[in-house]
Amino acid sequence: LSTESQSILSAYEWLAKLYHHLLRHTKDGKEGYTYLKERGLHDDTIDTFQLGFAPNITDFTTEFLEKKGFHQQLMVKAGLLSQKDDNSVSDRFSGRVIFPIRNHLGKTIAFNGRAINGQGPKYLHSAESELFRKGKTLFNFDLAKKHIRKENEAVLFEGSMDVISAYQAGVKNGIATLGTSLTDSQAKLLKRYVDTVILCYDGDRAGMDATYKAAQLLQNVGAYVKIARLSEDMDPDSFIRQYGGEAFIDQVIKPSTTFMGFYMRYVKKDFNLSLEGDRIKYVETVLRQVAVIDSPVEREYYLKELSNEYNISMDTLTEEIHQYRQKSG
Ligand code: GTP
Ligand code: MN
Ligand code: MN
Ligand code: MN
Ligand code: MN
Repeated sequence: LSTESQSILSAYEWLAKLYHHLLRHTKDGKEGYTYLKERGLHDDTIDTFQLGFAPNITDFTTEFLEKKGFHQQLMVKAGLLSQKDDNSVSDRFSGRVIFPIRNHLGKTIAFNGRAINGQGPKYLHSAESELFRKGKTLFNFDLAKKHIRKENEAVLFEGSMDVISAYQAGVKNGIATLGTSLTDSQAKLLKRYVDTVILCYDGDRAGMDATYKAAQLLQNVGAYVKIARLSEDMDPDSFIRQYGGEAFIDQVIKPSTTFMGFYMRYVKKDFNLSLEGDRIKYVETVLRQVAVIDSPVEREYYLKELSNEYNISMDTLTEEIHQYRQKSG
């Protein structure tokens, strides 16, 4: 590691500790603490993730880092301070609840800061650096790793709050990307540790689109994908808040379906199933996907489902799928 990187790591370590201490034990961090308690987090969860609060005091962090002897321009580069047009430097995360982002070794390499009074963007991440590449980092991977190995399953979420809520509910093999789509390198990293990835994104349209894309990527690197289902207006964290952790495990995680189960729901949006022509196109679209499934048992399972739902004989479906399979070699 370069001297600069070592210095950045050290600054993050100091600040993560300080912000966490302020949140847990002081008046300056009280609004952050209250916010997290209202979102249902226990003290031990707050401690495990070292959640903190960057106080809303002018130049608090800038002065702290200066007193500790950190080079100011380096701290700007590290994404801890921001520099304005007139070159003056100021705090970057002030007034935000801080979610430290750790690398696989457990070292804090970035922050994700959530606004709690509606000012600015909802979440703010540290700028990328030599140490922090969003597309190569997975939130909570260091803690989740051993659970992922043990269960040979990982649960991939959209947001860090989802990971933390689920962790508190007992789902400890959860990770998340950092506000970006899953990348090929994250998919490969996961595949090195695990065969099965459960996708548990938000139930809204954006979440379903992201699920489809992530599933493709994961399947391309040879992972087996399962999909958890949430209703349109829910994300994992809000489900847990409303129905509890046990319900989350029993009603969301355990009944995760195969990719095809999800796909059959997902592509329905492109068709008007009350029209005969659209129904046929829908069945053909699904069949094309069924055709690439390796397992004959699994193929037959979906053919039966289509046969029942759309009143088409198994013979016809089997014949059609045979054609698709020949075409794709
Ligand atoms: P909560 O409202 O705190 O429950 O957030 P969420 O986790 O439900 O957020 P959402 O589903 O909107 O987004 C998922 C992830 O995307 C977050 O954890 C962030 O990392 C990222 N994200 C969300 N909003 C923003 C934003 O305004 N800016 C940036 N850069 N990232 C965001
Ligand atoms: Mn607890
Ligand atoms: Mn979302
Ligand atoms: Mn969400
Ligand atoms: Mn949420």
